[in-house]
Amino acid sequence: MKVLLIYYTGTYNTRYLTDKVEAEFVRRGHEVDRVEINCDTPVKDVASYDLLGFGYPIYGFNSPLPFNRYTKKLNVRAGQAFFIYKNSGETLAMNNASSRILLRRMDARGAVLKGEYHFVMPYNIHFPFEKDFVREILDYDNKLLKIMMYRLEHGIVERIESNLLYDVAAAAVGIQKAGGAINSFLYRVDEEKCVKCGLCVKNCPEKNIRFEDGKVKFGHRCDMCMRCSFYCPQDAVRIGFLEGWRVNGDYGLAALDEAGPPEKPYITENSRGFYKCYIKYFAKIDEEYERLFGFGCGEMCGYEDAPEEERAVW
Ligand SMILES: Cc1cc2nc3c(=O)[nH]c(=O)nc-3n(C[C@H](O)[C@H](O)[C@H](O)COP(=O)(O)O)c2cc1C
Ligand code: SF4
Ligand code: SF4
Repeated sequence: MKVLLIYYTGTYNTRYLTDKVEAEFVRRGHEVDRVEINCDTPVKDVASYDLLGFGYPIYGFNSPLPFNRYTKKLNVRAGQAFFIYKNSGETLAMNNASSRILLRRMDARGAVLKGEYHFVMPYNIHFPFEKDFVREILDYDNKLLKIMMYRLEHGIVERIESNLLYDVAAAAVGIQKAGGAINSFLYRVDEEKCVKCGLCVKNCPEKNIRFEDGKVKFGHRCDMCMRCSFYCPQDAVRIGFLEGWRVNGDYGLAALDEAGPPEKPYITENSRGFYKCYIKYFAKIDEEYERLFGFGCGEMCGYEDAPEEERAVW
């Protein structure tokens, strides 16, 4: 099986997920290629792939503009199988609307959806997540990944339902459309803090940052991906009207993942406020995981009655 993973990432959470998805396919003996979308990524010929996987972080309840632009150009063929692995910081139902553009586009080309999955990852904007929370999130991501692979292999299609209200509201938010353009005029570097390491210049996916007269300067092609401000070792990048939501500093996902879930559950049935939405989300993963891989169940149980034709893979 030839699998192509096409993804956009700002602060590398989606890249981290993509590494994991790729490893799962490789472990099963499939051939995997991947494309990370930047401003100058050549358009890939996708026609020969058996399965396409699309990954993206949710931005203001939408898929990122560079992702939309890139996927529009792909020569997806009728009947081609695809799945979606999107991610975001929280699990509000409004996020469900984020795949509507991709789904519409794939539908118009006659491509066939094999599943859509929403992973949670730590926020790269708004506020930093505590380490124990990230460990718990990654533990659930690992479970969801296993569920996703099982379902993909067995032809069981998972859909994430949106509705007209969410779709319209998400389209109205479209934070990147106006936001990126306006905000790009407001980006600044704190000259007192900047050590001119060049990391932001080198890593900007839009090539929107340059050195000029020994100072860091921003152009007007910002994706609002937060890579520059998130990874600046001096926390010197100021992000305009989103400044109050700036998050700085690598979470160190691999080490937290390796450490496993926290000793005490971070989310409990008493979690309130912002954290409440995770209760249902985690419970649903637990329930499905138990059904598929729980004690006495083994890898094949849970879907024994799935029709044979649905099990035909891709
Ligand atoms: C401009 C912007 C808007 C975002 N909007 C949302 C959102 O609507 N809902 C959400 O849960 N997370 C939102 N996030 C958080 C990201 O989706 C999340 O941190 C994601 O894991 C980042 O992935 P990346 O590192 O691959 O870019 C937003 C992040 C940015 C930078
Ligand atoms: S990453 Fe930070 S310290 Fe390095 S050049 Fe950019 S603003 Fe300056
Ligand atoms: S300027 Fe910063 S936020 Fe904008 S696209 Fe470049 S790295 Fe991302």
